[in-house]
Amino acid sequence: MEALVMCLKAVTRPGDTVAIENLGLKALEIAADPVTGIDPEQLAALIRKFPIKACVFVPNFSNPLGSCMPDEKKAALVKLITHHQIPLIEDDIYGELYFGRHRPKTCKSFDKEGWVLYCGSLSKSLAPGYRIGWTIPGRFMHEVLRTKMMHTVTGTTLTQEAIAHFLGIGRYEYHLKKLRKALHTQCLRYVQGIIQYFPANTKVSRPQGGFVLWVELPHQLNAYRLYQQALKHQVSVAPGQLFSARGQFGNCLRISYARPWDSEVEEALRTLGALVKAHSRSKLV
Ligand SMILES: Cc1ncc(COP(=O)(O)O)c(C=O)c1O
Repeated sequence: MEALVMCLKAVTRPGDTVAIENLGLKALEIAADPVTGIDPEQLAALIRKFPIKACVFVPNFSNPLGSCMPDEKKAALVKLITHHQIPLIEDDIYGELYFGRHRPKTCKSFDKEGWVLYCGSLSKSLAPGYRIGWTIPGRFMHEVLRTKMMHTVTGTTLTQEAIAHFLGIGRYEYHLKKLRKALHTQCLRYVQGIIQYFPANTKVSRPQGGFVLWVELPHQLNAYRLYQQALKHQVSVAPGQLFSARGQFGNCLRISYARPWDSEVEEALRTLGALVKAHSRSKLV
């Protein structure tokens, strides 16, 4: 989070317009495909219309869609922002959590002129409590360093030393191998649960990494009301409205599958499915 803030501070001034993924700066929402993420062609059209000063995207396993931009789209995006000299802040916090054979590429790997400010963290792949993240700010190195010096000077050196040792002896890679496998299995199990307990016309994403599912419910449903009712049963989901500044996605839910599958999770999905069915019947809006 700190890396993102430092990078934003380095490339914007208060009141500037910033393009963000669907979701004092004016945020411009860009539509994202649940499988392939944001569309560089749509961004190109918006650049012609608005004075965009920076972009903040999560190209790999974006939250909440779980989408992953294909390499060609990443290359096209970097070419576009380089041409217009618009800095791209790449939040790659989920990049290590892939289910396939290879780690997805980053936009940074296509960046020849330093317009991509790459940000990473251990929060989703090891533990959020360490508060360790990093940035590779390209041509904005000087501005980011200056902001870091003014704000916190340095992160906690002892924790950094411990994590450096953990990385150095290969334990992180070992941990990630187990985590990726566990998350993939959990993903399949949760999807199966949703198919089993939710109405037949429910749509659910099939992410290839990360740990969130995007669920589209029948149109008349109000996800926020569903969220409130689910909380009474100690079931926590994120209503779709949370992910749009314009209150879109009122019939969608984000469900995390980070928790290992067990009978309690199954019961929670059964409860949620029953609530969705009851809502659909009563046409609660
Ligand atoms: C997409 C995304 N970026 C950044 C962060 C912040 O990560 P950190 O805990 O490393 O500050 C989060 C955490 O919730 C996140 O979901």
